Amino acid sequence: MTTLQGISMKKVIVVYESVYGNTKKIAEAIASGINEYEGAECVVRKTGEIHTDDLCNYDAILFGCPNHDQEPARNLLKFLDRASIVHLEGKIGAVFDTYTGGNKDVAAKKLETKVREKMSGIELIGRLSFKVTGRKGPLFDDEERKALEFGIQFGQKLSS
Ligand SMILES: Cc1cc2nc3c(=O)[nH]c(=O)nc-3n(C[C@H](O)[C@H](O)[C@H](O)COP(=O)(O)O)c2cc1C
Repeated sequence: MTTLQGISMKKVIVVYESVYGNTKKIAEAIASGINEYEGAECVVRKTGEIHTDDLCNYDAILFGCPNHDQEPARNLLKFLDRASIVHLEGKIGAVFDTYTGGNKDVAAKKLETKVREKMSGIELIGRLSFKVTGRKGPLFDDEERKALEFGIQFGQKLSS
């Protein structure tokens, strides 16, 4: 937590994986929603852009990735494996996936289980799934708005 003009700011990070950029767009829309809450500052990082040790600098951590063959994308799973030695007690978090066809929530549920197993200090308070029109996208029309609203709701929970 940092303080700005006497207000305590909650630091939030969205860690994502993305091949074609759709999950990145969702991560950025969620971060925009969280940043609407003036008590939060949220950044977005791809798995290769942050060292797992740095996760302890954040009050809340969200994870998102595409569904690849009914599983969360491998790079994010590897990131979670590496992060399992970091002490993250008392933090809150959420997970999300992107998918095509009939696989709503399939990778997100597995991601949720994995985070609970590997990072038991994080209390997960949200899970959401976002649909792309095909393997390369684009996202369906309403998905970025849904992501923004998810971020706003997450931001509100940070204050309570
Ligand atoms: C190797 C591979 C396997 C995939 N398998 C599935 C799948 O089993 N179920 C599904 O819903 N989508 C599957 N997809 C579609 C991805 O979910 C889609 O490419 C992704 O949501 C796009 O996100 P991105 O732009 O962030 O990479 C697969 C995509 C790839 C590249």
